[in-house]
Amino acid sequence: MHFPRGFYFGAATSAHQVEGGNRNDWTEWEKEDAKRLAEEAALRQAQGAPWADHILKNYPNPLQPENYISGKAADHYNRYEEDFDIAKKLGHNAHRFSVEWSRIEPEEGKFNQKEIEHYRKVIQALRERGLEPFVTLWHWTNPVWIRDIGGWENPGAVEYFTRYAEKITRSLESVRYWITINEPEVYSLNSYLLGVRPPQKISIFKYLRVVKNLTRAHQKAYEAIHSSSVKAGITQHNVYFDRFLHEIKDHQDFIGVNYYQYRGGRGRNRKSDMGWSIYSEGIYHVLKSLKKYNKPIYVTENGLADARDTHRGEFIREHVDWIKKAAEENVDVRGYFYWSLLDNFEWDKGFWPRFGLVEVDYKTMARKIRPSALVYRDIIKNQ
Ligand code: BGC
Repeated sequence: MHFPRGFYFGAATSAHQVEGGNRNDWTEWEKEDAKRLAEEAALRQAQGAPWADHILKNYPNPLQPENYISGKAADHYNRYEEDFDIAKKLGHNAHRFSVEWSRIEPEEGKFNQKEIEHYRKVIQALRERGLEPFVTLWHWTNPVWIRDIGGWENPGAVEYFTRYAEKITRSLESVRYWITINEPEVYSLNSYLLGVRPPQKISIFKYLRVVKNLTRAHQKAYEAIHSSSVKAGITQHNVYFDRFLHEIKDHQDFIGVNYYQYRGGRGRNRKSDMGWSIYSEGIYHVLKSLKKYNKPIYVTENGLADARDTHRGEFIREHVDWIKKAAEENVDVRGYFYWSLLDNFEWDKGFWPRFGLVEVDYKTMARKIRPSALVYRDIIKNQ
């Protein structure tokens, strides 16, 4: 059995993690918190954190404050053409990326035409290489002025987000697949319950308010964007699916699944550099459980941090096989995006986790295709 014709194979990124040169609520937080994060990493190291020795020897490593400052990131803002050349060479026919709200609307109500033009060129560059764009409108970073009004705790953010969503989708009208919000629950959990990411507040009330506002933001943006030719959906971490999907079930044309680990952390002994268990069969169970929603499904993220590239090839092969099994059993799955095309800035963990099909040397910004990227290329070729 083969995947259905038109199945999308690609990789995903997000603006803050790869672009470089951003100014948003995260960059402000990084400036203040880099030193503390490095110190905490040193403590975790003393407790036996699972970092490979070579990560500690190589720059940037978890014990250095620079690791926690996104700075130039992978300089994808300037190198997107080179990066898409690589994606094309690797046989991809789609690519997921996000638009950075703080670039588009650096001040309330002032839309930056130059930045809109930048993303238009990005989309054009994808199309020229035969890559279908899947575009995320919000992947966890806020303009500083949104932060200043209380971020997503403020229901006003819903209106602002909807206005931004309308503006950008009208300006980039050739895009057929929009993802409004990436993993609303993971964001709310880390930022408002665990308090490990900005704005680092720990409050169940704030958490619930933020979840509610993100849900509303998705619903309103969906109403503003979707049409017969434009599909809109959300991406969700598999662990949190049911609750959220139920809320938005009438406001989505497709479901985006981000699958990394299975509920309860089940798995064999294989682990990523971040200590996450690899359990590829889990993706099959997740896909089967989503069948009841009766919507097309895209695996919008699936990947692992693996600096030595020891497991990545096998990881991709196994996950794709399980996805195929779900497709054989009539789950309407239509695409797979490996996370990530490039090594990038892994939020509060910084640069050390290496998720890329393509290795980035952060000193020279040189790109190097990892062997597993070729395994993925061959998997795509043989479908
Ligand atoms: C996020 C990515 C992140 C990845 C690995 C996903 O939950 O959408 O931004 O890099 O997980 O942690």
